[in-house]
Amino acid sequence: MLRIVVLVSGGGTNLQSIIDHIEDGRMKNVSIACVISNNEGAYALERAKKHGIPTLCISPKSFEQRSDFNAALLAKLDEIHPDLIVLAGFLLVIPPEMVDRYPNRIINIHPSLIPSFCGTGYYGLKVHEAALARGVKVSGATVHYVDKGTDTGPIILQKAVEVKEGDTPETLQKRIMEQAEWVILPEAIQKIADEKAAAEKAARQEEER
Ligand code: GAR
Repeated sequence: MLRIVVLVSGGGTNLQSIIDHIEDGRMKNVSIACVISNNEGAYALERAKKHGIPTLCISPKSFEQRSDFNAALLAKLDEIHPDLIVLAGFLLVIPPEMVDRYPNRIINIHPSLIPSFCGTGYYGLKVHEAALARGVKVSGATVHYVDKGTDTGPIILQKAVEVKEGDTPETLQKRIMEQAEWVILPEAIQKIADEKAAAEKAARQEEER
């Protein structure tokens, strides 16, 4: 079983897709140990509660310094001890200490085809505004491991989505979520769960020899 923690900041449609995939059996051997938001008003927290998933809000506003917030978030994660941390619309910068503590165990969904329209300042609708301003005909989404840069870690999965004549940032965002994000984020988590199961099986066979 791959125990994941999902970090969120807003609406939580990507979280919803993970929950749906687990509940209807499309995703196997994955459980959500906790959903953590930096934002008390995030609808994602309601989505988790409706499905009986433990939730927590850790807000930078409750701390005088960002380093204290980072330490509190890390302490909570260490307590839960997840196999994988999934950033599903989590819009704060991940502290380097967290990357050191969870190497190759943090993944992020980004709403463009990295390396286009990514890095500092590119999040949410801003990504789609930039894509439309540049006039690209294809955009999409990327799931990648998180390293100490912004959107620079190794790519796990990508899916392209057509940009249509007359698109607004909102219509493009919706198409990319429906056709790419809600598909490849669960797929990437399943891939990691399958890899863990295979590694555990190999270790057991090695012990039995
Ligand atoms: C998603 O489009 C996600 O790709 C994006 O924020 C949105 C969150 O939506 N993430 C980033 O821009 C990260 N750089 P959701 O809360 O409905 O899942």
